Order: sequence, then structure tokens, then C-alpha cells
Amino acid sequence: MPLKNTARNYGTIAKWLHWTTALLFLASYCSVYYRQWFTERDTPENWIALQLHLSVGVTIAVIVALRIIWRIGNRLPDPEPGSRLEHLAAHIGHYALYAIMIVMPITGYLGTGVNTEFFLLFDIPKFETTALFSTVVSEGMGLTYKEFEKPIDFIHKELMGEWLVWLLILGHIAAALYHQFVKKDRTLAKMTSGK
Ligand code: HEM
Ligand code: HEM
Repeated sequence: MPLKNTARNYGTIAKWLHWTTALLFLASYCSVYYRQWFTERDTPENWIALQLHLSVGVTIAVIVALRIIWRIGNRLPDPEPGSRLEHLAAHIGHYALYAIMIVMPITGYLGTGVNTEFFLLFDIPKFETTALFSTVVSEGMGLTYKEFEKPIDFIHKELMGEWLVWLLILGHIAAALYHQFVKKDRTLAKMTSGK
């Protein structure tokens, strides 16, 4: 199977990047909701679940950076037949998914008040202790970390994490199933077996 995308299919690298991101999104939701629903505050499990969420989120940021570079240097497979409106909706949907893949890790990092113990390998300092925070946010904008964190947390949790991300991902999966079972075209095959 070719590494790069062809007119007929996504290539192996685009498929790996796509399905790894999908698995990491699942892991990100499982860890954060496990923490909220099944652990008590100030217990080791609560901390581990949080750290898992942070590490998975940072990994998503790295994969997405690679994915964007790969996407820019690669053609897309030819679209399946469909109306102009369907193609436009698919484009908007894909760009919106890229937007959440970028905004979620950034707001997650900026709004976190603890260091990320990246899979117990090394520490990533919390934003509050970085030079960027002191020069841009503290001196430049005159904000304390608490004041800065509030709207960022709102975007990460209430606005996006709790519903916008779900809406886009579920809409995306529904579109894939619609192509597979109603239109019976090759849209899902292009991202899977390629047959
Ligand atoms: C694509 C990546 C990410 C997704 C989809 C995601 C999603 C979520 C969701 C759904 C929540 C729970 C919202 C609620 O309170 O109901 C949450 C909370 C949180 N996220 Fe993320 N997140 C991502 C990346 C990150 C990153 C990179 C960090 C930090 C390095 C981070 C830090 C946090 C923190 C500290 C919380 C609060 C945890 C809690 O109160 O239990 N997130 N995130
Ligand atoms: C079970 C889950 C998923 C299924 C079945 C699925 C299915 C697909 C399919 C069939 C395509 C090809 C569409 C086309 O060429 O028109 C595609 C592309 C795409 N998917 Fe997914 N997907 C899933 C999860 C996700 C997740 C979680 C994200 C990101 C948060 C995502 C982001 C994208 C993007 C941005 C594209 C456009 C192609 C690219 O630039 O890589 N997908 N997906």
C-alpha cells in the first residue's frame, strides 16, 4: 500500500495518523470521565487519571502537528460523487475537526495548573511558570493566572469538551456510516482497507 495518498485512497501514513488520533481522542475522554465519575479527590487514582488525560492530550498535539504537515504536502483522494452541498459540508466538517484537534490541546495546556508528568518520562512545566506567561499574560495583559484561566477553561470544558467536540465527532461518524450503508460508496474504504 503506498505511503502517500493517491487519487483512489488515503496512504498508509494518513491512515495511521487518522486512526491514532481517533484512538487518542477516545483515551482522552475515557481518562477524564473516569477521573470525574469513578475516583475520589486527592487519591492516587484521581491524579493518575488526570495525568493520563494531560499526557494523551499533549500526544494529540504532536500527532496533529505531524498530520497538518503531512496533509499540506499531500494530495487528497478524489471525492466520491455527490452534490456541491455535500462536498462543501464535508470540507467544513474536516476543517472543523482540525480546529478542535488544535484548540483542545492548546486550551488544555494553557488552563492546567499542574505540571504534566508526560507518561512518567519527563515533566512539562505548567503554563503559569513559563516565561511566555510572565511576559505576555502577566506583564502584557496585566492578568493573574486565575483571571486568565477562567475563560480558557470555559472553552476547553463547557464549550468544546462537553458538547462541541462530541457533536463534530458524532456527526463525522454518522457521515461515514451514511456513505457506507446508504450511499454505498468508497468513502470509508479510502480510509480503511482501500478496496
Ligand atoms: C484533544 C485533546 C483533549 C480533549 C478532547 C480534552 C477533553 C477534555 C474534556 C472532555 C474534559 C472534561 C470537561 C468537563 O469538565 O466536563 C477535559 C478536562 C480537562 N482537560 Fe482536557 N482535553 C484535551 C487535551 C488536554 C490537554 C493537552 C490538557 C493539558 C495538558 C488538558 C487538561 C485538562 C484539565 C486539567 C481538565 C480538567 C480535569 C477535571 O476537572 O477533571 N486537556 N478535557
Ligand atoms: C470511529 C471514528 C471515525 C470514523 C469512522 C472516521 C471516518 C473517516 C473517513 C471515512 C474519512 C474519509 C472521508 C473523506 O475522504 O471524505 C475520514 C476523514 C477524516 N477524519 Fe475521521 N473518522 C473517525 C474519527 C475521527 C476523529 C476522532 C477525528 C478528529 C478529531 C477525525 C478527523 C478526520 C479528518 C480531519 C478527516 C479528513 C481527512 C484528513 O485530513 O485526514 N476522524 N474519517
